[in-house]
Amino acid sequence: MTDLALPKFPADFAWGVATAAYQIEGAVAEDGRGDSVWDTFCRRPGAIRDGHTGDVAVDHYHRWPEDLALMAELGVNAYRFSVAWPRIQPAGSGAANQAGLDFYDRLTDALLAAGITPMPTLFHWDLPQPLEDEGGWLNRDTASRFAEYAALAAQRLADRIELWITLNEPFVVTTFGYGLGIHAPGKALLLDALPTAHHQLLGHGLATAALRASGAGQVAITNNYSPAWPASDSQPDQAATAAYDALHNRLFTDPVLHASYPDLSAFGVREIAGVRDGDLAVIAAPIDALGVNYYNPTRLSALPDSELPFQLEPIPGYPVTAFGWPVVPAGLTEILTTLRDRYGELLPPIYITENGCSLEDAQAADGSVDDDRRIGYLDGHIRAVADAMAAGVDVRGYLTWTLMDNFEWGEGYHQRFGLVHVDFGSQRRTAKKSFGWYRDLIAAQRG
Ligand code: BGC
Repeated sequence: MTDLALPKFPADFAWGVATAAYQIEGAVAEDGRGDSVWDTFCRRPGAIRDGHTGDVAVDHYHRWPEDLALMAELGVNAYRFSVAWPRIQPAGSGAANQAGLDFYDRLTDALLAAGITPMPTLFHWDLPQPLEDEGGWLNRDTASRFAEYAALAAQRLADRIELWITLNEPFVVTTFGYGLGIHAPGKALLLDALPTAHHQLLGHGLATAALRASGAGQVAITNNYSPAWPASDSQPDQAATAAYDALHNRLFTDPVLHASYPDLSAFGVREIAGVRDGDLAVIAAPIDALGVNYYNPTRLSALPDSELPFQLEPIPGYPVTAFGWPVVPAGLTEILTTLRDRYGELLPPIYITENGCSLEDAQAADGSVDDDRRIGYLDGHIRAVADAMAAGVDVRGYLTWTLMDNFEWGEGYHQRFGLVHVDFGSQRRTAKKSFGWYRDLIAAQRG
């Protein structure tokens, strides 16, 4: 499969890698950074596999020049990273901590000098703990705090950064963080978590206005999407699938693109608590791009007499990653064409802001990692993007998850997604075989 030449992508296509602050930076107590909900959650016994924390992560805060050199070697022209809110506002409000901004300022200048476009995400899950103490995303005020923080970041950096991403995967924050309690802040509120969806979206809308007022050229939001497949063609399974689709694929997109919430009546929800007149107009402020993260489809069956009307079913017949996630490249084409069909003219250009796989990468005695399965994964998914583009979907870039192995949330350091292997003891970085493959792909696309 990898022998066939890839189709030629447009010359200005963004080829990149993505990371997130808490997963790579470490240095959690340096230069005035405050605690985030993830610092707190990692200290909760049993929350993270083997009690791992992001205290050190892969020490990117100190080793970023080495990581940037790796990106330059890879030949990427785009780098999606996240700004740690608790570095900019340690208490979640008030004046900017200049030392925190300095870090991203230096990174931005060095990226630009290397010909790499910086693509920051403002919120990749590390909410300042003092804001969580006031209710976190359950509290409407957090949306306003987020906009203030966005303005501080843009006032410093928007003269050099064109495209800004507000939120990363608010679906995961609402469901894993506040609905099920398996991510920070560890609240298991089930459907009572829904106000966190609205407040994040409101935060996105308010931040969009604040970013533009502070000089940002383009604004986007990144969602994760998963084609929802019914386990059977029975009516209950079809209805369960539609319910899941509304929650996962529509809840964080319909309001942004057409100012309305999807039908959540399958959950017994007539309207989301906390929505006020005018909020949807704020949320639906025009955006310049949509970030799409894709990992796998979801298969569903009905679950009668339950607060959630569906249950997840295995998807047999596909290879799986170390996480057990099915590898289904065609699912990426499917979700991209679904978005186009669903939103039509309202859909802005798309960047694939994450796509990748965790594998049990074995390191040979000489340090090399022959991750042929990752090469197959990436090849299949990049072809899937090409298929969607051939079908008329406007995709402007592909940023793989991720540059280097890192702290994988509840799994700690157990899931390796990187193109670069990291020895978590010595912090030694070693390019995997997939790194060379991606480098050659990018070079061939440019050539
Ligand atoms: C997140 C990343 C995460 C990746 C793999 C995405 O949901 O944005 O932070 O590491 O998936 O689980």
